[in-house]
Amino acid sequence: MTKQFDVIVIGGGPGGYIAAIRAAQLGFTVACIDEWKNGKGGPAPGGTCTNVGCIPSKALLQSSEHYEHAGKHFAEHGINVSGLGLDLGKMVGRKDAVVKQNNDGILYLFKKNKVAFFHGRGSFAKASDAGYEIKVSGAAEETITAKHVILATGSNARALPGVPFDEETVLSNDGALRIASVPKKLALIGSGVIGLEMGSVWRRLGAEVTILEALPTFLGAVDEQIAREAKKAFDKQGLKIELGVKVGAVDKTARGVSIAWTNARGEAQQLDADKLIVSIGRLPNTTGLNHDGVGLKLDERGAILVDDECRTNLPNVWAVGDVVRGPMLAHKAEEEGVAVAERIAGQHGHVNFNTIPWVIYTSPEIAWVGQTEQQLKAAGVQYKAGSFPFLANGRARALGDTTGMVKMLADAKTDEILGVHIVGPMASELIAECVVAMEFRASSEDLARICHAHPSLSEATKEAALAVDKRTLNF
Ligand code: FAD
Ligand code: NAI
Repeated sequence: MTKQFDVIVIGGGPGGYIAAIRAAQLGFTVACIDEWKNGKGGPAPGGTCTNVGCIPSKALLQSSEHYEHAGKHFAEHGINVSGLGLDLGKMVGRKDAVVKQNNDGILYLFKKNKVAFFHGRGSFAKASDAGYEIKVSGAAEETITAKHVILATGSNARALPGVPFDEETVLSNDGALRIASVPKKLALIGSGVIGLEMGSVWRRLGAEVTILEALPTFLGAVDEQIAREAKKAFDKQGLKIELGVKVGAVDKTARGVSIAWTNARGEAQQLDADKLIVSIGRLPNTTGLNHDGVGLKLDERGAILVDDECRTNLPNVWAVGDVVRGPMLAHKAEEEGVAVAERIAGQHGHVNFNTIPWVIYTSPEIAWVGQTEQQLKAAGVQYKAGSFPFLANGRARALGDTTGMVKMLADAKTDEILGVHIVGPMASELIAECVVAMEFRASSEDLARICHAHPSLSEATKEAALAVDKRTLNF
């Protein structure tokens, strides 16, 4: 007999597992199917984010930053370190343990919320008036049915044409997180979010890192002033970033890999490296879903076509996260998952795309929400700008980390905050206050009037708000 549920979620990443939990909270019977396997072949829910994305990358970023601090910055604090050594195996092992804690946490949450978990691949078997039959192919095969289906099948790394990932020499994010020994020379193609985060990890651990980027501008989506400031910091650290390049043939060699490329002046160049990380974006994943079999429509990029509320062209089939349009971010996937579960329950789930924060977890961190100065100019919006450097912030001085600034953009007439852009220490945490302010449609004056603890980095946000009205107190 087939098992019947109200809702089946295919994919157990942040979009899927959160949708499953929220649907269960709302009183539905829910199944979540996820095929990710851990090293022993067992279930490892959490998707890209937990297994080869957000969580392991942040674990390695933290460990490598400790290493760099111990080697280069502790002395400034009067702490002399001798005999500093790197146990990469232990560092990667710690990262793996952090991943496992998160996998186990999700399995615990499924139990707690009575979500039935199926380890295997889910695919459409049949659509009927009663709902959808979903085949689960795993250790055992079975078919389960539900009226509502939420697709959260995520994304995969995009390879360079003709250069498949082997995860030994040519690495995707997966291989980039488990290199066995620090490469002497590391090449990366694409200086987007993964390029900068992974490039930072391996540079801190001792690799000579070169990143080849096709676009002539650095971090084109980021506010120009912030991107300039970040680039200065990365240059100083020795992260070599070549902009406006054209990548040609990539050949494996006895040593590793050889990349032919042309620089921005059109001169032919060659880069030889031990390893290559290709970080040129990600593609939506619908492999094995049998979407054609039930007539599920995809867009020209291969993403599942959805409306503003994540409805697909099939009745009661929804899709969320990386497999649909919009930024490929874990928290965007989660918000969509919650909203869809609430819509299934007849509620008005909502996702505000204008207040989705972005964070790049380099050092300095880069974080932003809302519009950049160049976007406001292009749209002809009249705005006021205020910024405050961490150099003038007492807490940043005490930390010994004064790079960067907070920059706030507000409507010239109404003073509503339109965007906040941060490069500097703990930008990932500081941006949350700005998201709240924008979600409540606060003015810069609202933020400027709020009492912030002293000494704290958040005072830089308050001062940036004061700067919008040209009345900073500490600069
Ligand atoms: P995924 O997390 O990809 O999960 C999809 C799941 O579905 C997978 O487990 C997959 O195995 C499973 N699946 C697919 N098809 C089927 C099927 N037919 N049957 C059963 N299971 C199936 N985002 C951030 O917000 N912050 C970060 O710091 C961050 N860091 C990142 C670092 C790296 C290196 C990478 C690669 C990504 C990072 N991201 C980050 C992006 C983030 O990982 C994704 O946006 C997020 O994981 C998307 O969630 P999702 O649920 O849509 O898909
Ligand atoms: P990305 O879109 O951030 O950057 C890709 C870069 O590669 C771009 O700058 C692009 O111009 C460049 N590029 C594309 N083709 C190229 C080519 N042929 N030669 C040279 N350069 C080329 O994509 P990335 O870094 O792969 O990450 C994928 C996604 O994962 C991100 O967009 C983000 O959504 C998510 N992510 C989020 C993180 C976070 O939130 N902190 C961390 C890591 C990933």
